[in-house]
Amino acid sequence: MMNFILFCLLCGLYGVFGKDKEHKGKYSVPILDVKTRQMVVDINQTLQLGCRGRWELSWAFPSGLAKDQVQVEDSRCGRTGQQYCSSVTVSRSLTQHTGQFRCRYRHQTRKQISIYVYVTDSQQPFVDHPAMSPDVLYMKEKQPLVIPCRVTHPNTTTTLVKFPNHSLNPDQRNIIWNSKQGFIIRTPTFYYIGLFYCETISDGVAHKSRIYFVHRPVSNIMEVYLNSTGPVQALKGERLVLNCTATGELNTRVNITWDYPGKVNNTGSTFKRLLKHRTHMLFYNILTIPKLQRSDRGLYTCRVTSGENTKQQKVTVTVYDHPFIRLKPRHGSVMEVQAGQKSYRITPKLRAFPTPEVIWLKDGMVAAEQCSRYHIDGNSLVIRDVAEEDAGKYTVLVRIQEHGLYQNLTLTLVVNVRPQIGEKAVSPQDPGSVPQGSRQALHCTSHGVPPPHIQWLWHPCPPKGLPAAPQA
Ligand SMILES: *[C@@H]1O[C@H](CO)[C@@H](O)[C@H](O)[C@H]1NC(C)=O
Ligand SMILES: *[C@@H]1O[C@H](CO)[C@@H](O)[C@H](O)[C@H]1NC(C)=O
Ligand SMILES: *[C@@H]1O[C@H](CO)[C@@H](O)[C@H](O)[C@H]1NC(C)=O
Ligand SMILES: *[C@@H]1O[C@H](CO)[C@@H](O)[C@H](O)[C@H]1NC(C)=O
Ligand SMILES: *[C@@H]1O[C@H](CO)[C@@H](O)[C@H](O)[C@H]1NC(C)=O
Ligand SMILES: *[C@@H]1O[C@H](CO)[C@@H](O)[C@H](O)[C@H]1NC(C)=O
Ligand SMILES: *[C@@H]1O[C@H](CO)[C@@H](O)[C@H](O)[C@H]1NC(C)=O
Ligand SMILES: *[C@@H]1O[C@H](CO)[C@@H](O)[C@H](O)[C@H]1NC(C)=O
Repeated sequence: MMNFILFCLLCGLYGVFGKDKEHKGKYSVPILDVKTRQMVVDINQTLQLGCRGRWELSWAFPSGLAKDQVQVEDSRCGRTGQQYCSSVTVSRSLTQHTGQFRCRYRHQTRKQISIYVYVTDSQQPFVDHPAMSPDVLYMKEKQPLVIPCRVTHPNTTTTLVKFPNHSLNPDQRNIIWNSKQGFIIRTPTFYYIGLFYCETISDGVAHKSRIYFVHRPVSNIMEVYLNSTGPVQALKGERLVLNCTATGELNTRVNITWDYPGKVNNTGSTFKRLLKHRTHMLFYNILTIPKLQRSDRGLYTCRVTSGENTKQQKVTVTVYDHPFIRLKPRHGSVMEVQAGQKSYRITPKLRAFPTPEVIWLKDGMVAAEQCSRYHIDGNSLVIRDVAEEDAGKYTVLVRIQEHGLYQNLTLTLVVNVRPQIGEKAVSPQDPGSVPQGSRQALHCTSHGVPPPHIQWLWHPCPPKGLPAAPQA
């Protein structure tokens, strides 16, 4: 229904314009009585503009011109009174009235004509004068930056000044001066972030414009991290403090929020800070839960948002009711290892909170002090180059002194040694020949863990011509 009405409205308008073209082809846009594109009026002078067209007219004025500073008079005009005329009068022009005056058709505001009026005053070369509070300008990526220090006279020459006193002159390439707009920086860089003003010399006196603060709103979160990389463990009743830090590009603003189990009950409190570094911004938000309860266990998420961007970090928090030590052998209390093995690790099953102290004893004495081949790695004892003498009783003492918790576990290590025949170590003796029928004793000395069985085998002599079989 709505579309239909709109459609008919457009048809109607088309009809009207069509007819007009037929008639005269004139007044397709209104016409001003001043034919130039711009004019200069002195301050305190009266400004008068007239406009004529085929339909009802309306005006758009510079933003510095208040409604009560201007009179508008509408009338019918033309020979047969079929045209519409409108005139505006500003009886006392002020520099802030400088700008575009537009006359347009009331029902088709795109059909318009404009004139730029400078209200000039040598004492006030800038429309935005220095007494005005600083204006904040936003620099956007890949868009020209306009420092709107418009002037009250078209021939004013100006300089752009970066605080405190770095002057920039128009170069017609990147820095362009336009008296109706101000300075246009085609491709602004980080250099253009900061405080600027424009300056001009008139009658030997330097005049400054209002101050402009160029700001670059960015929303680039570089990194988010928690000061706890692994899962957090804590005891009931303890205080939990997590520090979530975000870094962002200069001028970034972020919101840091926490999600955690106790949030529904407001069990935590947060503290925020923002630090500005030379190259980046640092934000942190510290979550404190003064007295941990069982219900506080779970996932803690720090979420950092900036505009459309979001980054987060999570950590699991475990809350224990009591401190504890759980200590068990991993595979029975007797372990076997082969002598000569490069290394052997004795690792009991140990779970404890808070972190306990772990001491290893061998046969009742501190292991690490007994042999340089023993060393402690976490909760394990590692034996390098296992030797027969490493067999024995190993005791791990686990204690959490501040809570008066102690546990110990003794494990037995058996070191197996390959059987060795002592006689093989010395140079093989030729038994030589012995008289037939004589009594001979053959010796075999052997060692091994567990003790080896000795078995004698007899090989008949090989027939002549073949190599002799080894003698047992
Ligand atoms: C404009 O009028 C004001 C108030 O009447 C006066 O103070 C000021 O000097 C005038 N300016 C000029 C340039 O005539
Ligand atoms: C501006 O300067 C040009 C030439 O430099 C001159 O022709 C023109 O009249 C001046 N405009 C005004 C309004 O003084
Ligand atoms: C202005 O710039 C000059 C160098 O060009 C510097 O020595 C001076 O300190 C600056 N003045 C102020 C007020 O910053
Ligand atoms: C994290 O930082 C807070 C505040 O500095 C500190 O109190 C807390 O102990 C830290 N936590 C860890 C796990 O380092
Ligand atoms: C939180 O972490 C940041 C970055 O590691 C650090 O600068 C800040 O001092 C920490 N805050 C507290 C209260 O420890
Ligand atoms: C919130 O408070 C209620 C009532 O005290 C309690 O039962 C519940 O466990 C709390 N939940 C969390 C997540 O702290
Ligand atoms: C932070 O959150 C507030 C309120 O939700 C919002 O108005 C503001 O724009 C946010 N700021 C950023 C940088 O996202
Ligand atoms: C190991 O614990 C038992 C009790 O479980 C205790 O009698 C013994 O003295 C402890 N041994 C050492 C070396 O602490």
